[in-house]
Parts: sequence; structure tokens; C-alpha cells
Amino acid sequence: MEYQWYPGHMTKARRMMQENMGLIDLVIELADARIPAASRNPDINDLAWNKPRIVLLNKSDLADEAVTRAWMKHLEQEGVYAVSLDARNRSGMKAIDANVAKACAAKIERDRARGILNRPVRAMVVGIPNVGKSTFINSFAKKAVAKTGNKPGVTKGKQWIRMSKTLELLDTPGILWPKMGDPETGLHLALIGSMNDEILDPEKMALQLIEMLERSYPELLGKRYGFEDPGMFGNEENREHRILEGIAKVRGCLGKGGEASCEKAAGILLEDFRSGRLGRISLERPGDETKGDMQEETHAEGNGN
Ligand code: G4P
Repeated sequence: MEYQWYPGHMTKARRMMQENMGLIDLVIELADARIPAASRNPDINDLAWNKPRIVLLNKSDLADEAVTRAWMKHLEQEGVYAVSLDARNRSGMKAIDANVAKACAAKIERDRARGILNRPVRAMVVGIPNVGKSTFINSFAKKAVAKTGNKPGVTKGKQWIRMSKTLELLDTPGILWPKMGDPETGLHLALIGSMNDEILDPEKMALQLIEMLERSYPELLGKRYGFEDPGMFGNEENREHRILEGIAKVRGCLGKGGEASCEKAAGILLEDFRSGRLGRISLERPGDETKGDMQEETHAEGNGN
């Protein structure tokens, strides 16, 4: 799916989130497990400053498991509850309830002190386009009892999906737009397919992906495209380009004059990466963040901070 970002949409989405913040106890923030820094928007810190929050590292089926584990640890050290999730296959869902209970412990305790028992936690799902918000809500709702419909005291037209005795989700997710401040964030978002490919240069992206893969996952390209000897591309400057040509040759991508088409090969490589056919790959690791904005997080309640 491709997205174009219009200021009008962003303002509307932000206003919708602001309006709904008053109705909820908890924010469930989805990030992409392959790029947990670039796929989060620090605006959420302002919008949800007084709400407990849990972060779901979605599409974890496409990310490097060891790196995702490191991210969970990193987020937890910052006081954020984190769950690794594959919303499409519903793996990781079980851990959510326990994390909701931990994140909302203070609210649950407050209710109990007031004699209110078993009032479900109300949550809103938020995240950037394409991160899997609808997939998550739908797959979570599969086991849901029912939509709860309008209730007295709840803004007219709001639909709540009852997930369990203890959790209700607002059925309309909040949309955040990624911050495109530094070029690396933009590149990472583009590589996972969160931007309109037509306005990007696939060949340039493919060359940058090759550079990253060679650094962090040196065996994957050879394995996927059958390069017997990675040394065959030499070590000089244009190595990435020669690798792309190598992919073009192996995959029979030819231009008009019969020469290897790097443009076509770039398309194949990007698609192989995005679909996971290249392997489980994380583009960001905790510690190599330049996007420090998300690090200063605190939660309003429930985590003892
Ligand atoms: P959004 O509401 O946040 O915009 O995202 P949405 O749920 O529409 O998901 C965007 C794409 O990401 C969909 O693929 C969806 O299937 C895929 N997706 C969501 N969660 C996961 C996950 O945990 N793992 C993987 N691998 N993919 C996930 P699509 O190609 O746009 O649609 P479709 O072909 O699946 O219908």
C-alpha cells in the first residue's frame, strides 16, 4: 500500500487523536519491529503525555529476532512496556493482556479503591500508516465478544470493541505521521515500503540496502541470489553497484539493449526484502539511534516511574 502525506490529513488525524485521548486509559502504540526508531513519532509523547502506554513491535516475523529482543530490553529499560508481535499470524497476542494490566496497574487500583470492580481498560491503537494497526485490531477482535456500541457518557458514534473482560479498544486507530527529520529515517521508512515508491529512486535505495546488508547480514545476498563467492564483486567503490548488476544477471533483468537492468533488479531486491524472502532483517538496533527524541519517555502511571 502506498501513502501520500497531506498536511490536511495530518491535522485531522491529530485532532481526532486529541479528542479521543480524554476517553481512554491506555495508548497501544504500534511500531515496526524492523525500524522501531524511525517508525515511531515523538509527537505521541505530547499527545499522550498523561496516559500509560505499551509499544507493540509489529511485523516481528520480518525482523531479526535477536535484535527485536534487544529492542524490548531497551524499551523496558526506558520504562516502556514492549511486546513483540506478528499481527498477521496473531503471534504475541497473549502477552498483551499481562502488559495492559501492568501498564494500567495504578488505574485498576484507583478503581478498586472506589469500589469499581472489573471496569475494562479502554485503549486507543496508534501508529504510522501501514504499521499494521487495522490488522492488529481485526485479529485481536476475532476473539472479541462483540462491539460494545454506544454507551451513555461516551461520545456519540464511538465504537468500542470488547477484547476481553479487561480491555476495550476504540475501533478507529489514531494515525501518526513519521517524522522525516533526518535522511536515515526517511530511507528506513522508504525501504520498508511506508512511502510512495513513485517519488523515490529505487536504484539508490537498493544500493543503500546492499550496503547495509553487507555490513549487518553479509551472508544473505549470496544465499538468496546464489553468489558463490562474495569476493567476486571486488572491494572497490562500486561494489554495491556490481552486486546489483549481479542480481540483474541472475534474475534475467535485461534492459532494451540487452544489458543488465539495475532498475529492474532494484525492484526485485526491494520486494524480496519487504516480503521477508531475503531473510529476517532489522535495519535499526538500539544504541545506534540518531533519533533520540523517543528516548526521554516517561509514563503517567503504572510503571512506578
Ligand atoms: P495500518 O492499518 O496501520 O495502515 O496497516 P494495515 O493493518 O493495513 O497493514 C499494512 C500491511 O502490513 C498489510 O499488508 C498487512 O497485511 C501487513 N501486516 C500487518 N501486520 C503484519 C505483521 O505482523 N507481519 C507482516 N508480515 N505483515 C503485517 P498489505 O500487503 O498492505 O495487505 P495484504 O496483502 O496483507 O492484504
